[in-house]
Amino acid sequence: MLQVARIRGGHVLKGTVRAAGSKNASLPLLAASLLTGETVTLRNVPDLSDVRYMAEILGHQGAIVANPEPGVWTVRAEQISHRTPYDLVRKMRASVCLLGSLIGRLRQAEMAIPGGCVIGPRPIDLHLKGLEALGCVVTVEAGVVQVDASRARGDMVFMGGPMGSTVLGTANIVMAATLTPGVTRIECAAREPEVVDLCTMLIQMGAKIRGHGTGIIEVEGVASLHGCDHTVIADRIEAGTYLVAGAITGGDVTVTHCDPSHLTTFLDKLREAGVQVETGPDFIRAHGKPTQAVEIITEPYPGFPTDLQAQFMALQLLVDGRSTVTEKIYPARFMHAAELQRMGAEIAIDGATAAIYGDRPLSGAPVMASDLRASAALILAALIAKGETWVQRLYHLDRGYERFEERLRSLGADVERLPASDLPKGFAED
Ligand code: EPZ
Repeated sequence: MLQVARIRGGHVLKGTVRAAGSKNASLPLLAASLLTGETVTLRNVPDLSDVRYMAEILGHQGAIVANPEPGVWTVRAEQISHRTPYDLVRKMRASVCLLGSLIGRLRQAEMAIPGGCVIGPRPIDLHLKGLEALGCVVTVEAGVVQVDASRARGDMVFMGGPMGSTVLGTANIVMAATLTPGVTRIECAAREPEVVDLCTMLIQMGAKIRGHGTGIIEVEGVASLHGCDHTVIADRIEAGTYLVAGAITGGDVTVTHCDPSHLTTFLDKLREAGVQVETGPDFIRAHGKPTQAVEIITEPYPGFPTDLQAQFMALQLLVDGRSTVTEKIYPARFMHAAELQRMGAEIAIDGATAAIYGDRPLSGAPVMASDLRASAALILAALIAKGETWVQRLYHLDRGYERFEERLRSLGADVERLPASDLPKGFAED
């Protein structure tokens, strides 16, 4: 049943919220559990539709998957298939990270090429180029990629593309290399904390990896990997989203159980915008409204994360003057701008750069979520808009935020999740 969020703006958010486990770490970690026939236990896994979906795919591959208690998933992949059908892959592009684990464990994989999505084309050419560099035979026919890794050997793999490195591409090559004979040297590797978390777990499973977190990762193939018990890192993107919720309302929000060192550029930009930011070993506090227009450019880690771009754009709606957002990862990732304009925002898009002319009065309106992070940005803007905002297609939000409206309410927001049938007349989904 379709659901909507109704937000009544004007409330100041104050309080503490605990960061959930990282979605973008959990998905490759779940895929990596196929690299062994022993039990892998994951803890601090967020309760998200993407996570439940990845678990469903692992089951289809033949793994025994259980969710014995909230946040805990166990996977035992004794007998698995190397084939992943189209109807599973098409719904979640991140399932592409199964390629690396299937190739690592079975020396072969057959997977439908995932489609694109609203934030732009989601090619996997760098993934396939990396696998070929290892000596895999890669064929693509009728939208299905087949990989034969029977003769694969460790080698140098360059993961750089026009937009920098590739996060899931790096994850795929690392996973394939853990069980490929020889030493693999990945250059222009992604440095994201989620890739580091994957390598940390793989090392617990017996993999030989070094350099993770830098641009050069070296993997020495071993004969097999064993089970492990791993706790997923905190979701830095979710943490950043709640910090914006505090700042945009001129409130005072502390996010606990998170790692400030995973958000250095984002926190630097919050401070540059005039928000007060304090950090400790496992918490971040943001208070006070932004006062300065700033320019952000999204880049691979440790640059400004593209996944926090929409949220930061919402924040800039408060600030008089001209702020800019330049997307160097997904140049078309501005679907949220058109919806923010419906609420009164003045935003001019010129190619991969959006100029935000802030300090315009915002009024609530019916708006449409288009992707995961855009959904959050619309809700953040609704917190400061006059009147009621109705955000439709909430399923986008549920892919990456656990109980978002409930946790915002705990900070003082007036936000309700309602059936789409409650939409006021004339607002209804087309
Ligand atoms: C991961 O996607 C994240 N998803 C994305 O988060 C995130 O936006 C992205 O990294 C960038 O940080 C997960 O981790 C599940 P990429 P990924 O391969 O790995 C181009 C969210 O909101 N590219 O690093 O798929 C690509 O088009 C999601 O949580 C190629 O050209 O992203 C893009 O422009 C959205 N060829 C850039 O590289 C390739 O073979 C970065 O993509 C692969 C990528």
